[in-house]
Amino acid sequence: MQVVTEIEAMRAISREVHHRGESVALVPTMGAFHAGHLALMRRARELATVTVVSLFVNPLQFGPGEDWARYPRRLESDRAAAEAAGVDYLFVPSESAMYPHGEVVARVVVGRMAEVLCGRSRPTHFNGVATVVAKLFHIVEPDWAVFGQKDGQQVAIIRRMVEDLNFPVRIAVVPTVREPTGLALSSRNEYLTEAERRKAAALYQALSAGQARFAGGERHPQVLVEAVRAVLAEAGIQPEYVELVQAWDLGAAPDPLAPGAYLLAVAAWVGTARLIDNVILTVPEPSAS
Ligand code: PAJ
Repeated sequence: MQVVTEIEAMRAISREVHHRGESVALVPTMGAFHAGHLALMRRARELATVTVVSLFVNPLQFGPGEDWARYPRRLESDRAAAEAAGVDYLFVPSESAMYPHGEVVARVVVGRMAEVLCGRSRPTHFNGVATVVAKLFHIVEPDWAVFGQKDGQQVAIIRRMVEDLNFPVRIAVVPTVREPTGLALSSRNEYLTEAERRKAAALYQALSAGQARFAGGERHPQVLVEAVRAVLAEAGIQPEYVELVQAWDLGAAPDPLAPGAYLLAVAAWVGTARLIDNVILTVPEPSAS
């Protein structure tokens, strides 16, 4: 595996791969690799002949007072983990390479999909994500880019950005990787004490309760949301939000739910960690018969 720090070198490598008639899959990350990241790398290896993982803790997507400064950084162990996962190139640009002017003037502005769910408390977050992902797409020029369902709003926004701005890339999504307790793996779980980690498992238990009500035939969004809230309350967790929205555009879910896919999503603070999780609920089309 080769570590690449220069933007021009990364672009030259990708162009050379394409020149050979081969393909590139990109996994954008902020590092502190866990089994979730490794699952994305495995998927990337299935999709293309060459796998590029980018590692950049993007300041543009952190708001004032958020955890940019204490976000875990451990390049050496990440390098070893990516190499063991069979990654071909680890792209680790510096902040001055990505944002040479400091100030960013031209950026991707996402609009209403960035204003719901996490966007309400993190109003600049998804513009920062979309901007850095657009930059990575321009630098790496991947055929495929791989994202995790763990960040359901991020996935919906990136898919939409790719369509709206005609990026020549295909998006692959990998299911959320969880601990045996159900807790979704996250670099931010490192902020949790052991007791908080046990408490945090209630996020997925709560989503599972909603999922169970849905499987039992419940089709009223508010009832499903309340089923999630009840389990969180029992665990002593006050969520920032629990919402059910259309998975593809994050718009309001109809009441009762119509055929389609919906995102049942939660965000909550546990200790000093802001955690998010989601499950997808799919209402099938009525059968033709
Ligand atoms: P980061 O939080 O490092 O996540 C990198 C990728 O790993 C994202 O696509 C995320 O959804 C996925 N991921 C994280 N935890 C996962 C889990 N438990 N199961 C499956 N996939 C998981 O997301 C970002 O970085 C940044 O916003 C980024 C897209 C790199 C832009 O800066």
